[in-house]
Amino acid sequence: MTPPIIRSLTDLRDQVTTWKRAGETVGVVPTMGALHQGHLSLVRAAEQDCDRVIVTIFVNPKQFNSPEDYEAYPRTEEDDARKLSSFRVDAVYVPDGPQMYPDGFATNISVAGITDGLCGAHRPGHFDGVATVVTKLFTQTMADSAYFGEKDYQQLQVVTRLAKDLDLPIEVVGCPTIREEDGLAMSSRNLLLSDRARIWAPELNRAMQDMAEGLLKGEDFNTLKAQATARIAAANFTEVEYLELRAADTLELMTQADRPARLLAAAWLAGVRLIDNIAVG
Ligand code: PAJ
Repeated sequence: MTPPIIRSLTDLRDQVTTWKRAGETVGVVPTMGALHQGHLSLVRAAEQDCDRVIVTIFVNPKQFNSPEDYEAYPRTEEDDARKLSSFRVDAVYVPDGPQMYPDGFATNISVAGITDGLCGAHRPGHFDGVATVVTKLFTQTMADSAYFGEKDYQQLQVVTRLAKDLDLPIEVVGCPTIREEDGLAMSSRNLLLSDRARIWAPELNRAMQDMAEGLLKGEDFNTLKAQATARIAAANFTEVEYLELRAADTLELMTQADRPARLLAAAWLAGVRLIDNIAVG
């Protein structure tokens, strides 16, 4: 059976209040829909930890950089509900635009520092949009824990920071990236790739894996980056937005893998922006 869909905040609050009165714990998995195995791995983690699980689906206009990108984002609500039917999901919260951002909405949550580089530098306002909607989803669902993927590594750090800074009574849980067999990180945006582009796409991850291996052997960062960039370009990517080594916890820039680090990249393939990141050491 497909889980019940809740569209109004009042109904959501009534439902969660009933659960909390019964002493049950609540986990939330925030998503923008077009669900795939990556999202579903978060649902599984929430199921294991919590008595009740809420999945939220909201394509958040505030975190898109262009109206075209927002319009093109896949919307597959019926399929999503069907995919969730094999899980122990107690509610799917699907607010509409005016429910989230009513007339007069004027508040912005902005996390400084860790949003400076990477996607923050290339997508102005993106993390303010994420931080604002996630804060609302946390307070709306009153969840005890929230599940996020390492696939969006900088986002995970931003959300962890904001929950801590604002004393939100919620535990932010990070979960590993789920990949296709050929190594491509699962993403709703993969649906936008042509058949040909889909064949080239895993080259981003392969180039990153080899670069990580070189870094662990102590090879020069800039040489490895140039090699990886050339390889990604040879796979028909039109632009590598960034390919950087950063400290796993603070996201500080690094050039040597002498402490736990993350290699992070964003690149454009056939008009689609793909991101990926892997642990180094
Ligand atoms: P969305 O891209 O739908 O992703 C929802 C959650 O699924 C995020 O925590 C993301 O990191 C996780 N996820 C996506 N692909 C994954 C994969 N291959 N493996 C593991 N986890 C994966 O991220 C967002 O939506 C939005 O920014 C949101 C947090 C919902 C705020 O609007």
